[in-house]
Amino acid sequence: MQRSVGAGRSWPYRFRLHSHAGQPLAVGALSGQAGLVTETANTALIARAAALKLLEAALGGRSGLDDALNAAGQGRLSDQDRSFARAVVMATLRHLGPIDRALDTRLKKEPPKPSRDLLRLGLAQAFYLDTPAFAAVDTTVSLAPKPLRGLVNAVLRGVLRDGPISDDPEALAPPWLFARWQAAYGEEQARTIAASIALEPDTDITLRDPGDAELAAELEGEPLSSGSLRTAKRGDIVTWPGFADGRWWIQDAAAAIPARLLEAGSGQTALDLCAAPGGKTLQLAAAGAKVTALDRSAERLRRVTAGLKRTGLGAEVIATDAVKWVDQRTFDAVLLDAPCSATGTFRRHPDVLWNARPGDIASLAVAQADLLDSASHRVASGGRLVYSVCSLEPEEGEAQAKGFLASHPEFTLEPIAAGEGGAPSASLCPEGWLRILPHHAPGGLDGFFVARLRRAKA
Ligand SMILES: C[S@@+](CC[C@H](N)C(=O)[O-])C[C@H]1O[C@@H](n2cnc3c(N)ncnc32)[C@H](O)[C@@H]1O
Repeated sequence: MQRSVGAGRSWPYRFRLHSHAGQPLAVGALSGQAGLVTETANTALIARAAALKLLEAALGGRSGLDDALNAAGQGRLSDQDRSFARAVVMATLRHLGPIDRALDTRLKKEPPKPSRDLLRLGLAQAFYLDTPAFAAVDTTVSLAPKPLRGLVNAVLRGVLRDGPISDDPEALAPPWLFARWQAAYGEEQARTIAASIALEPDTDITLRDPGDAELAAELEGEPLSSGSLRTAKRGDIVTWPGFADGRWWIQDAAAAIPARLLEAGSGQTALDLCAAPGGKTLQLAAAGAKVTALDRSAERLRRVTAGLKRTGLGAEVIATDAVKWVDQRTFDAVLLDAPCSATGTFRRHPDVLWNARPGDIASLAVAQADLLDSASHRVASGGRLVYSVCSLEPEEGEAQAKGFLASHPEFTLEPIAAGEGGAPSASLCPEGWLRILPHHAPGGLDGFFVARLRRAKA
């Protein structure tokens, strides 16, 4: 049970404080901060211990942060502790490059685990969340295993003394990815892309009924020219108006573009070949198409089924590998939103940048080419195929489209026109496809590649 013990922009949070009456301490006791009630100290440590676990999960592999956040949601953490832990981890991940640079100037060699993660969290609080330096130091040192406390204390105080960390855009991205963006988009755009890693985006929403102006107002949403709704609302989305009735779903403004470009509507059949977690399936179903949603992950498909149930929309859901799927049907419209490095999604998932490895891109490119070939066999005579990836890497986008067109003469590229599907004009490429970069719309959007192809009439 929680009870409020204070409010304001003060330690341990910069907002309302809660005690955790009767809750056992998750971590060791504080080293002793004069004037702090013990229960407040406990709260401070519980939230920060959770942040350490989240950061370790986030940097431990793909979808680590999402899974860990879900687990934290189901665990015994209070809402306040969970949101504080999340805020600390997101600030750490958004500034991980500059934080590590600052740490490396003070560390002679790599310290034993979990020192670096603790130091990263401490610095993120002090430099990016306005946590008082004494609180950041005391809680960080208290969380460290006893033999590491001296080292953590010395390094943290040293970096804090060195002064504010510089958020040079080049330092915000892993060097190998920044070099790729320089090569693909030039120095200036690479720096603009990287600079947006540090920015917290608002939440984008797709309305089941795009004309629902009343709901848009209730969600405090700003209608974007792309057709999505953007809100600065914070907090648990399940409590927002219209969520329980399934009148909207969360979907980045760029992620909503590929399904619109498919133009699948009433009386048409649509196949969503890599469907989970399902935002695009919901769009196709809401547009009136008869949808088949397929994904090889039965677990991820549960989110598709849950989304369909919540929104009252219908689709046939199939758990299988798209490449091995045995089915004779062809479809008027096929969407292949292929598995990819997801480097375009760093605004909401900054951990993807630090978990991606150079070798992933080459192996994903092979899988994407196989999936595109399989998708081509599912397109009816005269039908459309939209290929999309939330990646900034040309091997997963432009190179796939070029390779497909070269090996599938029965398909031609159907150029995307200005404004079509909500595409920002800056994203239109002379070839007729879209290269969406995070700075192509005010307030930002995810990075995507989208190409629309048409099968010749037999
Ligand atoms: C980028 S996500 C799709 C996102 C989804 N279209 C949406 O809008 O919510 C890629 C999906 O492809 C699935 N996938 C990967 N390889 C696959 C395959 N060979 N066959 C079917 N699905 C696959 C993954 O399980 C993952 O859910």
